[in-house]
Amino acid sequence: MTQAIGSERVGLRLSPLNSFNSMKDSDPLALIGFLADKLNAFKLAYLHVMRADFFGVQKADVMPVAREKYKGVLVGNMGYSADEAEAAIAEGKLDAVAFGTAFLANPDLPARIRAKAPLNAPDSNTFYRAIQTIRHCRSHKSPPQKIEETSRFIPKALPFDLAKL
Ligand SMILES: Cc1cc2nc3c(=O)[nH]c(=O)nc-3n(C[C@H](O)[C@H](O)[C@H](O)COP(=O)(O)O)c2cc1C
Repeated sequence: MTQAIGSERVGLRLSPLNSFNSMKDSDPLALIGFLADKLNAFKLAYLHVMRADFFGVQKADVMPVAREKYKGVLVGNMGYSADEAEAAIAEGKLDAVAFGTAFLANPDLPARIRAKAPLNAPDSNTFYRAIQTIRHCRSHKSPPQKIEETSRFIPKALPFDLAKL
């Protein structure tokens, strides 16, 4: 991929601890260290590392190992508050932090962080709701207008083909 479109257009995300879908590794620290080291050769736009497990099963301090081994732009993710992100970047532990669920609950997240405004708490019941509702409407032969209305809640950036839901 780096050869086809240029390494500056390729970023990679690794989730060495995430046990989602039964993923696991016997030595996540060795895994992230090995990969981070090997990835230097590709001169990627960034390496993005999910620092924890969604389910809290696998635990290890992967970010310092990634930082030590990887010489390019390192992005951290998972459970960062704005304050922790700022401190981690200021201390040189990371170059950037990515926010997931905070964005789902606060589409204006950067503006809120800048203004030090309070954040809405993420509500996992709503994460996939628009998509679930569309599927429900289809299976119950609801009017197309209802499907059209619901589809407005799916962010344009998500790779869902409305016709195929
Ligand atoms: C609804 C939802 C869908 C997600 N889908 C994916 C996915 O397909 N692939 C992936 O690597 N991570 C996925 N994630 C994980 C997020 O990218 C992110 O790592 C996670 O939310 C932790 O970051 P946060 O604490 O800032 O929310 C998903 C998270 C949520 C809430």
